[in-house]
Amino acid sequence: MDCYIDLKNVEAEELKNVDLDKVDVTCSPPDFEPQRQYYFMAKCRQIVQSESKRLGRPLYACSVTFGCQMNARDSEKLSGILECVGYSAIDSEEADLVIYNTCTVRDNANQRVYGRLGVLHGLKKKNPHMKIALCGCMMQEESVIEKIQKSYRFIDLIFGTHNIFKFAELLYTMFASERTVIDIWKDTNQIVENLPVERKYPFKSGINIMFGCNNFCSYCIVPYVRGRERSRNPEDILREIKTLAADGVVEIMLLGQNVNSYGKNLAKPMSFASLLKEAEKIEGIERIRFMTSHPKDLSDDLIAVMKESRKICRHLHLPLQSGSTRILQAMNRRYTKEQYLALAEKIRKEIPDIAITTDIIVGFPGETMEDIDETIDVVKQVQFDNAFTFIYSKRTGTPAASMPGQVPEEIVKEGFNKLLKTVQDTARSRVSLWNGQTMPVLVEERNLQEKSLLTGRLSNNTIVHFPGDASLIGQIVNVRLKECHGFYYIGETAEL
Ligand code: SAH
Ligand code: SF4
Ligand code: F3S
Repeated sequence: MDCYIDLKNVEAEELKNVDLDKVDVTCSPPDFEPQRQYYFMAKCRQIVQSESKRLGRPLYACSVTFGCQMNARDSEKLSGILECVGYSAIDSEEADLVIYNTCTVRDNANQRVYGRLGVLHGLKKKNPHMKIALCGCMMQEESVIEKIQKSYRFIDLIFGTHNIFKFAELLYTMFASERTVIDIWKDTNQIVENLPVERKYPFKSGINIMFGCNNFCSYCIVPYVRGRERSRNPEDILREIKTLAADGVVEIMLLGQNVNSYGKNLAKPMSFASLLKEAEKIEGIERIRFMTSHPKDLSDDLIAVMKESRKICRHLHLPLQSGSTRILQAMNRRYTKEQYLALAEKIRKEIPDIAITTDIIVGFPGETMEDIDETIDVVKQVQFDNAFTFIYSKRTGTPAASMPGQVPEEIVKEGFNKLLKTVQDTARSRVSLWNGQTMPVLVEERNLQEKSLLTGRLSNNTIVHFPGDASLIGQIVNVRLKECHGFYYIGETAEL
């Protein structure tokens, strides 16, 4: 038929506009990306369409995110492909295809996956046509793959973080195979652009600016499962932001494990501060956030750009991990307690209304109550607006896993509770500073418990609930902050 499209002749940027039902899938697949993946999307689409016809109903797919913002952004890419292939998205796991995008940063993330796989097995017994796929960081660990092959043989597809761009091709292989399809890469230097994405929120979006991590903090598994640091080209990032703005997105979050080292490995190096300046110029974007900043790489340029910016949010997530220089050294964080304090002070001085939030680990090997007291001292001095406190989790293969002095559980609990109390006290006093003021809130959703309320965020990331109509979702409205409830406010819409 003459209307059939050969994807080999379509430019990468044009692929999203191609009608996949018109793609010629009788020819061989293109051997370059992303054209090759669109070819497999067209192939899978035929399979999904014929199965749906046989059943007399749409096929449903459910994707579940277990990890961080980067993991969530990857899930949006998976959903984009599933939609192109012809699946209807649902939240329930009683679906025709379920995909778990896993996390392995702490052991409890892994345990959640294993627990839910038990439930999925029951569902699959009821619906033998159901397909189950696993991907994400946990799949990059050999011991996990061995365990799944031994004890979870009902899984249909397993892939990792480096080849997620191949999802369409892997789906096709899965449809054609009777056995578990497993494809895990050790690392990659490839970044495939222009694949479809299905966003969770119409008005805000994450954007990957870099992948991987080179820091090798001694407790952390991320560098092993996400590979070496690679920055996306600024042109690709800025083009993506422009497309999002044209599509109604008002808030973007630039994502990377260490955004402060963005651009160092590009052919034409560019700093994170300059990337932010460029992003600021894009019309339609009202708010810019980013995650995560490593304290060792935070430049004066970045502080200056944040200070002058109208769009960059008044929030900096600056993981401390520990306030003890001795522990920081063992963690390979490459800053001291004093350096962190000086940096926080400089930021607060330059941008007084900024919220500083952090991550802290309790129970790192060799940590004593004196070390915890050092951490508590930093919390008191910096006055964090919020802090996520984690109990150290031993990750196989990391240097910390074989360090002497693993801390017994009772001692960890004691230190954790002591720290948590200080963290909550300082957060409460910081958050309440804005009581009575009227501030812009980006409205995100209906309140889950109280349907008459809407929920949104201040520029400084504090949550605000206030009465209002759902038509405000996605808009920035002025809200008077009436009551501070620790970590959030109750407010009412107001004129400035
Ligand atoms: N790249 C980010 C962190 C990503 S992981 C950064 O450097 O800040 C998010 C948080 O998980 C970390 O900040 C750390 O506090 C915590 N974390 C990482 N590995 C951990 C482990 N083995 N046990 C407990 N918490 C851990
Ligand atoms: Fe892990 Fe450290 Fe890299 Fe963050 S910077 S991802 S904590 S190794
Ligand atoms: Fe987890 Fe991977 Fe993110 S291990 S925290 S999902 S980078």
